[in-house]
Amino acid sequence: MKHELEQLISKAVSQVFGPDVASKVVFSVSYPPKPEMGDYATNVAMVLAKQVGQSPAAVAEVLIAKISDFRFQISDSPEDKEFSSFNLQSAISNLQFLGGFINFTITSEVWFKEVVEEIEKSENSYGVSKVVNPEKIMVEYLSPNTNKPLHLGHLRNGVTGVATINTLKAQGHEVTRVGIINDRGVHICKAMLAYERWGNGATPESTGKKPDHFVGDWYVRFAQEAAKDPALEMQAQEMLQKWEAGDIEIRRLWKTIRDWVIAGWKPTEETLGFSYDKVYFESDVFQLGKDIVEQGLQKGVFRKNEKGNVLFDLPEKEFGKDEQGQSRVITMLRPDGTSLYTTQDLGLAVTRAEEYHLDRLVYVVGSEQRFHFEGLFAMLKALGYAWASKLHHLWYGMVYLPDGKMKSREGTVVDADDLVLQMIDLAKQEIESRQLGLGASTFAKAMVDKKDAVDSEILQSKISNLQSEIERRAKVIGIGAIKFYLLKQKPTVDIHFNPEESISFEGFTGPYCQYAYARARSILRQGARVKGIGDSQRINYSLLGDIEERALLQKLESFPEVIGRAAAEYNVALVATHVFETAQAFNTFYTTHPVLKADSIEQAVARMKLVETSAQVIKNGLALLGIEVLEEM
Ligand code: ARG
Repeated sequence: MKHELEQLISKAVSQVFGPDVASKVVFSVSYPPKPEMGDYATNVAMVLAKQVGQSPAAVAEVLIAKISDFRFQISDSPEDKEFSSFNLQSAISNLQFLGGFINFTITSEVWFKEVVEEIEKSENSYGVSKVVNPEKIMVEYLSPNTNKPLHLGHLRNGVTGVATINTLKAQGHEVTRVGIINDRGVHICKAMLAYERWGNGATPESTGKKPDHFVGDWYVRFAQEAAKDPALEMQAQEMLQKWEAGDIEIRRLWKTIRDWVIAGWKPTEETLGFSYDKVYFESDVFQLGKDIVEQGLQKGVFRKNEKGNVLFDLPEKEFGKDEQGQSRVITMLRPDGTSLYTTQDLGLAVTRAEEYHLDRLVYVVGSEQRFHFEGLFAMLKALGYAWASKLHHLWYGMVYLPDGKMKSREGTVVDADDLVLQMIDLAKQEIESRQLGLGASTFAKAMVDKKDAVDSEILQSKISNLQSEIERRAKVIGIGAIKFYLLKQKPTVDIHFNPEESISFEGFTGPYCQYAYARARSILRQGARVKGIGDSQRINYSLLGDIEERALLQKLESFPEVIGRAAAEYNVALVATHVFETAQAFNTFYTTHPVLKADSIEQAVARMKLVETSAQVIKNGLALLGIEVLEEM
């Protein structure tokens, strides 16, 4: 509709002010701040007023007259043909100039029908579009280290990564999801060393621990011991040297530890919906980049200093000077020829871009690595890679829990598994306390508590079904709650995570949106059982159009546009906000217009269309965020 209106306005401008003016004018069509004002508003009068030296009101007056004219004179000229499907004559029911804007009101028969039919046609792919130039994009995300389990920071990384990948895909881009597993380096050796020294051959199996937690505990142990005995730090370094020299014993130990951690992550990643198309291991790629540095040295992109380090000088224009007033540098090779973190990333970027013929490479990595990526990107540009201008570091802020910053070294890190369990537990309490559609759950619990009362097999299986259903719902709600909370703010801000707030069925939360969906689905189920509603064929859209219905329709219609903006701005919070606003608009709609108590069956049928399409949009929006829905809550 927006696009058609744009065309219509351009045509009016062209006929009133001439094609020259029309080709230069840049105006927008948007929603008015209040649905009472109209369905669409354009700033064209204000923009043109400056250009043609008249008042906005005068410009608006002639444009409104011209557009009203069109409404009564649809010709058969090819130019007008494009409007025929849109049926202008009946589409615009009101035109008015308000606060600088020309406001359009569209008849319900046209507007509601168009939006509803579009959503019905597209179903789960409503919102998906195709940008003019689809790109091959690689998104790297999560990228954990094999010395510990995933923590809250990884959760934010993972959900941001998944939602970003989904929005990019929804724009028609071809996206490859990758991770780099950092499985090499002194931090890995620390866990290895502690295990070797104090582990006594224990294993995850023998201790009953989840294998990534098992290894993480040894990493924490190392820190504790090293605080007492500083010599341990040196020993970890020596172990790393042995690893690099290919020492068989050390490599065997390394592989055992690494495989434990990776196997330990698996269920966590599955629960959270994190997966990759390809995984890179640091141990395979850490030598990459050395030859590029050597070549760059010949070309003068890098330089060797008096100590023998190979350096990259960061352009002063962008990076300024360091504290000593020297230009900033990144060390790429040490005098002994060994490489560093940036060297590997340099090699990896080139390998990836060439292997996948990438147009764009996105890194989802915390804000503490901003300098690293800015430097890396500057260096790739200096080396002349065409795709270097399409690199993006999608950084995100810290996540704080009520008692302060999460830390990883001291072992006070907020573990992802613990948090997920805690959220599922909270969700279970919420379900139990509300007895949402499961009035029998309390009963089930009581029966299980009194085991002796349970003797019939039927009763037992009923109870266990109920319990597994509560379990299933709690998982969807608990995980949805945390994901939504981490996504509702734009990536760059720090988040204070509040578990109780996130699980609430009221407010700007995941469960609120999930609940609106479940409510919509329940109305649909009820409606389907009503004679005349469930089996109706014809929909009279003119019975819709109250303010609450129009406000809701705006949300449904603008969903694809919001995805486009979220993808363009790397800001998935826009999607979360939109889903929430849709859920809100839906709730307002159905409380003011009880669907099943409509004035007539015909009206109920029309409203059911809004219920159905609202459910679809909420579901699609949550799916983009990696959040599931429940048919009943
Ligand atoms: N594993 C690294 C860390 O925990 C992040 C890796 C980021 N990716 C990259 N290509 N440098 O800090």
